[in-house]
Amino acid sequence: MRKLIAGNWKMNGSLAANQALVQALRADVGSPGCDVVVCPPAAYLAQVQQLLAGCPSIALGAQDVSEQAGGAYTGNVSAAMLADFGVRFAIVGHSERRQYQGESDLLVARKAQQALASGITPIVCVGETLAEREQGLTDFIVQRQLSAVLAVNGTHVAEMVVAYEPVWAIGTGQTATPEQAQQVHALLRGQLRAVNATAASQVRILYGGSMNAANAQALLAQPDIDGGLIGGAALKAPDFLTIVGAAA
Ligand code: PGA
Repeated sequence: MRKLIAGNWKMNGSLAANQALVQALRADVGSPGCDVVVCPPAAYLAQVQQLLAGCPSIALGAQDVSEQAGGAYTGNVSAAMLADFGVRFAIVGHSERRQYQGESDLLVARKAQQALASGITPIVCVGETLAEREQGLTDFIVQRQLSAVLAVNGTHVAEMVVAYEPVWAIGTGQTATPEQAQQVHALLRGQLRAVNATAASQVRILYGGSMNAANAQALLAQPDIDGGLIGGAALKAPDFLTIVGAAA
């Protein structure tokens, strides 16, 4: 399966920094052997859309999407609005939003539903905290998070991307070992298979959490790791492109 490398810029960037980053990516991305997407902050989607014009190798993604279709929801951005700006992917349920914005499993499921309704591929994030891992709850947590999304969107399994992001590995420099990640990815694949066996083998399950230029290859070599969701290393063009190269 063709792998997917997604850059999650989080709340970083500026007009000048984005321009430099996208120019550097465009200059060296060539014809990558995997799908590539960058997810800038919502405020910069229009800018990055323009910077990516005429570059079919890099798609545009959003970091979040409203669970509402439109109306009196101050501060929200709808899936239709994202689609207006050429957005093809939307991260939903990132652990930072679950933690700081109190997003529930059901809310994440409804966000995925809105994205799908506008033809945007949701990148559904799941992952356990360190305390949950230490209590042996990893499987329970990630399966609960994914099952909420599948309960609402089960007929669309083939149109989703899943990202396993252990919270303890995000931005910490502490990566899950390839074996630890593979174990959870295989579990998630099995859960998808139970809903739709044919689709499950095509759903890309990304790993995220301190993936970088040095460790990407070993992680991406695992049978159920179909790409990466990259935070810190996505802000440095050479590092991001090294990861893209490792996924080819
Ligand atoms: P990180 O972030 O690569 O900086 O750990 C990954 C993510 O949160 O998506």
